[in-house]
Amino acid sequence: MNSNRRPIIAGNWKMYKTAAEAIALVKALKREVEGVKDVEIVVCPPFTALSAVSAVVQNGNIKLGAQNVHWEKEGAFTGEISAPMLKELFVRYAIVGHSERRQLFGETDAGVNKRAKAALANEIRPIVCVGETLAQREKGQTKTVVREQVTGSLAGLSKDDMLETVIAYEPVWATGTGKTAPPAQAQEVHALIRELLVAAFDQPTADKVRIQYGGSVKPANAKELLGQPDIDGALVGGASLDARGFAEIIKAAV
Ligand code: PGA
Repeated sequence: MNSNRRPIIAGNWKMYKTAAEAIALVKALKREVEGVKDVEIVVCPPFTALSAVSAVVQNGNIKLGAQNVHWEKEGAFTGEISAPMLKELFVRYAIVGHSERRQLFGETDAGVNKRAKAALANEIRPIVCVGETLAQREKGQTKTVVREQVTGSLAGLSKDDMLETVIAYEPVWATGTGKTAPPAQAQEVHALIRELLVAAFDQPTADKVRIQYGGSVKPANAKELLGQPDIDGALVGGASLDARGFAEIIKAAV
């Protein structure tokens, strides 16, 4: 972490929690993180629970995020949700390009780029996910893959857009697997991403952008990961489904 960047810890609830279960979880989290001010806290429930969770977090220190967003404002796009629909529910963040979307649902950098732009146009901050697979890492392609994803997903963003955007580095082999990237190895990729931002924008912009690490972040490893100079937060899956544990991760960022 770096004191110039406000840490951001986001919980990606994936396809877990009915609306009733989501209310119980967010209420428990609210109690756990009462008084936490120096960390931006975001929860990303499934679409069906956004409205219910939105009501619970209003005026508090927990912000609402969505797990995806479509680029059109409306239309014949069965199964998709638009940015104005999310904005109406006070959604402030949207994950785009999560590895599960890329791997299981065929999302591409070009689509991720359109989703990020639609979010920004509606005052929703995109959390743009990038990361290599195990096969790519083993073939020594990590840097090339991450460079391609960062460049493609952020194409055409202005400096102001970039300042509203969060990047999440999530090595696919560490996501939902219980395996975490060694902190120094994660730091190396975070530093590369920041260099790419310097090249695409400029140093002052790159210095302000927050880059989260994601992939089996838990209370036990959060402190060390967040202690790396270019790791500015975490995108947490499994461990965000437990209010106490997620709160411990949040407090590790203070
Ligand atoms: P995990 O998921 O923390 O369960 O590995 C992270 C993510 O997929 O965003």
